[in-house]
This record gives sequence, C-alpha cells and structure tokens, in this order.
Amino acid sequence: MSGERRTAIVTGAANGIGRATALRLAKTGFDLCLVDKDGEALRQVAKSIAEAGGSVIVEMADVMQRSEVEGFAEAALKKYGRIDALANIAGGAGPKSMHQIDEISDADWDLVINLNLRSTYWACQAVIPAMRAQSHGRIVNMSSTAAHGRIGPVGTAGARLVYATAKAGILGFTHQLAKDVAEFGITVNAVLPWLILSEPGSRIRNRFEALEPAGREQILNLSPMHRAGEADEVAAAIEFLFSEQAGYISGVELPIDGAYLVG
Ligand SMILES: NC(=O)c1ccc[n+]([C@@H]2O[C@H](COP(=O)([O-])OP(=O)(O)OC[C@H]3O[C@@H](n4cnc5c(N)ncnc54)[C@H](O)[C@@H]3O)[C@@H](O)[C@H]2O)c1
Repeated sequence: MSGERRTAIVTGAANGIGRATALRLAKTGFDLCLVDKDGEALRQVAKSIAEAGGSVIVEMADVMQRSEVEGFAEAALKKYGRIDALANIAGGAGPKSMHQIDEISDADWDLVINLNLRSTYWACQAVIPAMRAQSHGRIVNMSSTAAHGRIGPVGTAGARLVYATAKAGILGFTHQLAKDVAEFGITVNAVLPWLILSEPGSRIRNRFEALEPAGREQILNLSPMHRAGEADEVAAAIEFLFSEQAGYISGVELPIDGAYLVG
C-alpha cells in the first residue's frame, strides 16, 4: 500500500460528522467518493475539497435504496480503480419523535432500521469484493452510545427504542464481519459517539440549541467532561482507523464519548 493513493467512500458526507470526516480525509490525501441524499450541501463540501486540491466525486444517493448503494460503489471503483476505505455514516433516529413502544408503527421501525443497519449491510456488501481483490480494506460503521442502552439525550434523539436497536445491530454486524473478512486484510470497526454538536445549522446542534438552557445544562451534566463532542473528534478517530498503523485493530467498538459509557 505504501506510496499508492488511497480511496475512501464517505456516506452522509454533506453534513455533520460525515462532512467533518470528508474534510479530514481530504487533508490526509484520500481520493474521495462523497455520498449523500442532500445534493446541494454535498456539492458545497466537494467544492471546498476540490478547491484545496483534493480529488473528489459526488454521488447523490439514498442509502436506503440497494441500487443506489451499489451505484456509488461502482462509481468509486470506476473513477479510482480501487476502494480502500468506507465510512458508513449516514443514519439517524428519523424525523418522528417516539418515546413509548406503542407509538411505533412497523413503517417507523423499518425506516430507522433500514436507514442505519440495512444501509450499512448493503454498503459493506458492495465494497468488499473490491477490497478482497486488493487484499486491503478499512471499514468504519457508525453506532452510538445508545447501542448500550444509555439513551441519547432527551430532546435530541427521536425514535430512541428503534434507534438503539439499529445501532446495537450494527455492533453485532461489525463484530462478525470483522472475523469473516480478516483473512483478506480488511478491518471492520464501529465508533460509538455520545452527543456530537457539528457545524452551526446541523441537525443535532439545532435540536440541542432549541432546548431551554436548563435542559441543555442537564444534558451536559450527564457527561463526565461536561461537554458535547465535536464532529472532527469523531472524524479523527475514523482517520486513525483508516490508517495503515491500525491494521491490527478490527472488530472494535470505540466509544467517542468523553467517558460517558465507562462504569
Ligand atoms: N450527532 C450525534 O450526536 C450522534 C451521536 C451518535 C451517533 N450519531 C450518528 O452519526 C451519524 C451522523 O450523524 P450527524 O449528527 O452527523 O447527522 P446529520 O443529520 O448532521 O448528518 C447526516 C447526513 O446523512 C444524510 N442522510 C440521511 N439519510 C440519508 C439517506 N437515506 N441517504 C443518504 N444520505 C442520508 C443527511 O442528508 C446528512 O447529510 C448518524 O448515523 C448518527 O446516528 C450521531
């Protein structure tokens, strides 16, 4: 691998953690395939990377459609001839607030499971043949501290039961896939952020800032560090897991949470 350019696909790259990850990987020298359903914001991110001299293609795609997931993997391979890394970041708790199990319909359930878990499965399935052929690959899947039953802060995570289930599913998926593909030089890890406040105007930051000051304080007091994380703090962890030096780290759950999950 040394000396060769590396290629990464980042889903959810238009905003928030995905955007920060794309910007950081561009600085590291990755050739990028950026994926999001928000085409306008995605093009802005790509523009700033291209203006700084980075190589980037934009794939406007819905990760909940198998054909579109296969499409962005094919586009990356066609453009760069290899896929070294995949960050499955697109996801979330969906648009609807549901706090009790009897408020959840099957359609609500399917949406949040498909957005987080099925999309991750499809994207891994789409890139692994290329990674296996190269005998090299790095995959990071986006879980959450919610996966361990510690709910997201009240007021920021909508469909918490389904969301926790999907993010826990991503952990089991990551553990098993890491074993299945280890012999091909592919690592698969999961990151588990707590509350991450990304750029102004980003989804979770907006929800957090809409809370009363006392509500915000109550949430931050749940953190041993008394603060939320920044998107670039997650991006930095992903950058490390994509590095050559991280080649013996696989199947790991990495909390990025200021010690929130400890104990
Ligand atoms: N922000 C947090 O506090 C936090 C904490 C733990 C885990 N996470 C996870 O991190 C990931 C990113 O969160 P964020 O806060 O940066 O969110 P965000 O809403 O700021 O960004 C998510 C991006 O994904 C895109 N996206 C959503 N659905 C899509 C779809 N069907 N197809 C393609 N693109 C789609 C959105 O357009 C957006 O650009 C999510 O998986 C989320 O569950 C976030």
